[in-house]
Amino acid sequence: MKEFVDFDACEVGFDIPAKPGMDEADIQTPCLVLDLDALERNIRKMGDYARAHGMRHRAHGKMHKSVDVLKLQMELGGAVGVCCQKVSEAEVFARAGIKEILVSNQVRDAAKIERLAQLPKISGGEVIVCVDDVANVADLSAAATKHGTTLGVFIEIDCGAGRCGVTTTPAVVEIARAVMAADALVYRGIQAYQGAMQHMDSFEDRKAKIDAAIAQVRDAVEALKAEGIETDLVSGGGTGSYYFESNSGLYNELQCGSYAFMDADYGRILDQDGRRIDAGEWENAFFILTSVMSHAKADKAICDAGLKAQSVDSGLPVVYGRDDVTYIKCSDEHGVISDPEGVLKVNEKLKLVPGHCDPTANVHDWYVGVRNGKVEVVWPVSARGKAY
Ligand SMILES: Cc1ncc(COP(=O)(O)O)c(C=O)c1O
Repeated sequence: MKEFVDFDACEVGFDIPAKPGMDEADIQTPCLVLDLDALERNIRKMGDYARAHGMRHRAHGKMHKSVDVLKLQMELGGAVGVCCQKVSEAEVFARAGIKEILVSNQVRDAAKIERLAQLPKISGGEVIVCVDDVANVADLSAAATKHGTTLGVFIEIDCGAGRCGVTTTPAVVEIARAVMAADALVYRGIQAYQGAMQHMDSFEDRKAKIDAAIAQVRDAVEALKAEGIETDLVSGGGTGSYYFESNSGLYNELQCGSYAFMDADYGRILDQDGRRIDAGEWENAFFILTSVMSHAKADKAICDAGLKAQSVDSGLPVVYGRDDVTYIKCSDEHGVISDPEGVLKVNEKLKLVPGHCDPTANVHDWYVGVRNGKVEVVWPVSARGKAY
C-alpha cells in the first residue's frame, strides 16, 4: 500500500472515510478514529519512561500496522525502530525505510526466508529475526549469503507464553554457537516476551510471572557469558509488563505496542495501586466511530459496527464515555446497543473502545486522526492483511 495519499483524487465514501479538514461529525462510519492528542500523550509517556530507565523501545508494529503511527512513536517517543510478526509486515516497514526491524517471530518457510534475507537491502538498515531451532540457522545463513546481506539473530526463549521459543539454557547456548559459526548471521541477543501474563488483572500476579521469566533469561545470559558470548540486547516487554523488564537490570529493549492505542480488555488490568490502567496510566486513543442506524425497538439501538468492524475475541466493545447505554451483541454488520431510557437517536454517532486493538486495526483500511473536532490526518493501515 502506498503511504502517500492523493486526497484530491479521493472521494469520501468511495475511497476514504474522511478527508483532512472535514468536521469530525461528517466522518463516514464505521471507521477507525484516533484521538491525536491522546495518542501523542501516550507515545511521549512511554518514550519518557523508556529514556528514564535506559531502555530502548522497539515499538510493536503488529498492533497498529501503520508506518505513520510508527513514525510518530520514533519522532515523539524516541522509538528506535519496529517489531513485526510477519515477513510481509516487515516488508511494509522496510519499504518505508525503517532502519531497525525485528521480526519477533520464527521464519521457517524457504520462500519467506528468501524474502527476509533481502530486507536489509530494501530498508538499508539492520534486520533481526528470532530463532528457536538450530536447524533454522543454516537456512537463514544460506539465504543471507546468497543475497549478500547480513541478518541479526535473537534467540527466542519461551519464558511462559507457551508458543515459540526454547525452554532450556543448553538449547540457547547451542543456537548461539551455531549462529556465531554461521556466515552472514550475527548473534544480537535474546527475545523473551512473556505474552501469557500481559492481561492478568492483578499487578502482583503479573510480577510473579515476569520474576520467573527474568530468572530464566538471566540463567541463559550468564551461561552464554561463561562461554565467552556477550549478549548485546535482551528484548521483550509489553503494555502489561514493561515496568518489570525495565527494572530488571537484564532487559534493555522494550517491545510494547498496545499502550499507544489502549483497548477495553487491556484497560481492565490493574496497576500497582489497584487502578485500571486506562484510568491514568494510558488514555483511550483508538475508537471505532459508529452511527445508530435503527431504533425500531424502544430499548435497543442498532449501530453500523458489527463483527466486520472489529475483533471481539477479547470481549465486546465499550461505548466510550457513556454508562447509560451498553453494546450487548453483534452480528456481521450490526451492533446491538441496550438503551433502556431510549436516549439514542438515529444517526447519532458513538465512539466504541474495541475489546482488542490489534485484530481490530487489521480489518480497516484507514485511520482518521482527529483533533478539536476536525479531521487532521487520514492514514492508511499500511500493513493491513499482511499476515503471510
Ligand atoms: C513478541 C511480542 N512483543 C511485544 C508485543 C506487544 O505487546 P503489547 O501490545 O501488549 O504491548 C507482542 C504482542 O502480542 C508480542 O507478540
